[in-house]
Amino acid sequence: MSMQYRTPQRLGRPLSVIGQGCWQIGADWGEVSDDSARAVLDAALEAGVTFFDTADVYGDGRSENLVGAMRERVAADGPRPLFLATKASRRADPFAPESFTEENLRAWVERSRANLGMDTLDLVQLHCPPPAIYRDDRVFDVLDALVEEKKLAAWGVSVETCEEALISLEREHLASIQIILNPFRLKPLDEVLPTAQEQGVAIIARVPLASGLLTGKFSPDTRFAENDHRRFNRHGEAFDQGETFSGVDFATGLSAVARLEQALDGAMTLPEASLRWILGRPGVTAAIPGASSGDQARSNAAAGSAPTPEQAAILERFDRAVHETYEELLRAEIHPRW
Ligand SMILES: NC(=O)c1ccc[n+]([C@@H]2O[C@H](COP(=O)([O-])OP(=O)(O)OC[C@H]3O[C@@H](n4cnc5c(N)ncnc54)[C@H](OP(=O)(O)O)[C@@H]3O)[C@@H](O)[C@H]2O)c1
Repeated sequence: MSMQYRTPQRLGRPLSVIGQGCWQIGADWGEVSDDSARAVLDAALEAGVTFFDTADVYGDGRSENLVGAMRERVAADGPRPLFLATKASRRADPFAPESFTEENLRAWVERSRANLGMDTLDLVQLHCPPPAIYRDDRVFDVLDALVEEKKLAAWGVSVETCEEALISLEREHLASIQIILNPFRLKPLDEVLPTAQEQGVAIIARVPLASGLLTGKFSPDTRFAENDHRRFNRHGEAFDQGETFSGVDFATGLSAVARLEQALDGAMTLPEASLRWILGRPGVTAAIPGASSGDQARSNAAAGSAPTPEQAAILERFDRAVHETYEELLRAEIHPRW
């Protein structure tokens, strides 16, 4: 049962198919202590995860600093091919295209290089910029220049919508697209993945467990802490609504979860099925579940092994249930927006 690795052409480096999402070890998910954060990173490493996804704004540098410290611990033990992706562009007003000056872009990248302790960052993703930025050549010229200067090895985009992904795919130096893709978000399957695959652009599937809904552990009585976005961003009060439960209304999400669990009938857990299902979609490079404990990270990483024939048969049945559930409960709400 070992982790699989994929090497998308435009990155030219292997990534573990389960990457560790590192938002939780920054902020916005209730209290995650430094010890729990380190436990998440250590459990992921032990399970063969080499790909970590962070951002400069997660805890205003806390997540990057923890990942940077992990990188140093790993380097002290000898060479190991880690792939550390970060994101830039939300430190100034993230809704204002005027924030995207060369000066700001360079300053953000410098800060990430310092936080992560790397001369050349593996991957910098624009962090859900305003729609106008996707057509702004100036911004991408700066990213290209930073690659030439070896401050980054590659750049990508983290997008909200399929349309933004398609516009980005017109740029020949685009290396990766991070997009919400999970059993509640099917639109990228037809709209984005085929072109990305054809062009060798990495697809990084974020929010793979719909902020935890797809673990099946929530009920109508579940309460979230005040500093947890699942409480304060349900209607997009702080950032795009789609980042919280994938934009699915909580009660509808619980009904969809019940259907998917019924289809699985105990043959596989819902989080494992969700992660394995994502990894089985053609064109997907990796899924990046977040975790608030080492146990969660360990169990998510276990879904990165190649499926056995029995598991493949379960996943085929699950795929049918995913599509039926999407059509009946989710499409009307989700498809027009994301
Ligand atoms: N705009 C962007 O670019 C953007 C936006 C969102 C996310 N991301 C990236 O994508 C990553 C993943 O997305 P996400 O963290 O928002 O959502 P997610 O991975 O769908 O959900 C993470 C949450 O699910 C629960 N969970 C995870 N594994 C579990 C397990 N094995 N058993 C039980 N519960 C489990 C935990 O909830 P509890 O904490 O309640 O236990 C965890 O905090 C982030 O960490 C971040 O790196 C990027």
